Amino acid sequence: MISNKAKKQIDTWIQKYPKGRQSSAVMEALKIVQAENENSLSAEAIAEVADYLDMSSIAAAEVATFYENYNHKPVGKHTIRICHNISCMLNGADDLVFYLEKKLGVKTGQVTKNGLLNVKKVECLGACVGAPMFQIGDTYYENLTEKKIDDIVDKLK
Ligand code: FES
Repeated sequence: MISNKAKKQIDTWIQKYPKGRQSSAVMEALKIVQAENENSLSAEAIAEVADYLDMSSIAAAEVATFYENYNHKPVGKHTIRICHNISCMLNGADDLVFYLEKKLGVKTGQVTKNGLLNVKKVECLGACVGAPMFQIGDTYYENLTEKKIDDIVDKLK
């Protein structure tokens, strides 16, 4: 069930598009509903978003499964989305993924025992100039080193 608060937020996005084009707000609507559901989208939640935007469930599901912004199983409170595309890879992303996994005691895709953190490898996030980088929430962290990762992650604990 989409909360009234979420509906209000979605409505502001709908208003940004021409009348009858409310389905254009699907990405933000999915993001809003995901945030209200422990950062995960069930098939039912996707269908509800589709209903609310008067679009087909399959069209909403296509968006929700195409982009990496959406989770379809429970994740930690904070997802560390580390880029492993070419610029980041050439600047040590693979070593940093290994470092993160060791530091947190989880493999990519797993959630820490306290439910706080998980690591997800993602494709280019458009911040190649700051490679290697990762994203947590809406914040980008660039030019990462093991020391920087310690500082950032330890603040989340
Ligand atoms: S390759 Fe990592 S942000 Fe572009």
